[in-house]
Amino acid sequence: METPMLAENARPSERAGHSFQEVVRLRTSYRKFLPKPVPADVINAVLDDAQQAPSNSNTQPWVTHIVTGAKLQELSAAILAANAAGHHTPDFSFAMSDFRGRFQERAQEEGKHYYGSLGVAREDEAGRRAAAELNYTFFGAPQAAFLFMPSVGDNVRVAGDVGMYGQTFLLSLTDHGLGGVPQTALGYFAATIREVLHVPAELKLLFGISFGYVDPTALHYYRESRRDPLTNSVVFHS
Ligand SMILES: Cc1cc2nc3c(=O)[nH]c(=O)nc-3n(C[C@H](O)[C@H](O)[C@H](O)COP(=O)(O)O)c2cc1C
Repeated sequence: METPMLAENARPSERAGHSFQEVVRLRTSYRKFLPKPVPADVINAVLDDAQQAPSNSNTQPWVTHIVTGAKLQELSAAILAANAAGHHTPDFSFAMSDFRGRFQERAQEEGKHYYGSLGVAREDEAGRRAAAELNYTFFGAPQAAFLFMPSVGDNVRVAGDVGMYGQTFLLSLTDHGLGGVPQTALGYFAATIREVLHVPAELKLLFGISFGYVDPTALHYYRESRRDPLTNSVVFHS
């Protein structure tokens, strides 16, 4: 189906009433937000939707920190300082170079698409660095969620559960006329974030989600669907 558009002036109090198919396709990684804060009751409604996510043995292994206001500014300053000092403390690894074949090609295509949409050339290192740093000011969003999890075994099952929680959170944002972007980039500063938010060391940071009212001037970045055909990802057996 054609990708529907998020109403430019959609307000949380006016549920957009999109169908499931529309909500799924409207959800995309928005990376430019208005400074207007999302009311607490709407954030709670989104959290309550996310709480319905399935998990292995119903362990619900997510601990979510919502950060707004002065604390978000403090956190942004701490992350930018850690980044400038090269103080990276990820709980989990992520490197594009670890991917092979079509998986790696998709990551390269995504980088091209993203930097292209910002008008940053491939050889423009400073431009790419500045674009990457937008992650650390939450793309202008006045609130962000941090998805922590207990470290259990090899962490794969728990991370899968928290991923389901994160997607439910993102779809609920869309259903409320809001947008969000999941950010492994914030996970690179797990120790810094734990320190600022007073999170115990046993909880590991999987990723953050900046979210809010999408800046309507940026909606055009997100129109095209960038997914392979099903035949590249699905194998049927009978
Ligand atoms: C777990 C996770 C982590 C991500 N981390 C980042 C990130 O750090 N910064 C960013 O700009 N986008 C990040 N993304 C967004 C992806 O680039 C995006 O989901 C992908 O390119 C598909 O685009 P779409 O979300 O618009 O459909 C992340 C997505 C996921 C699911």
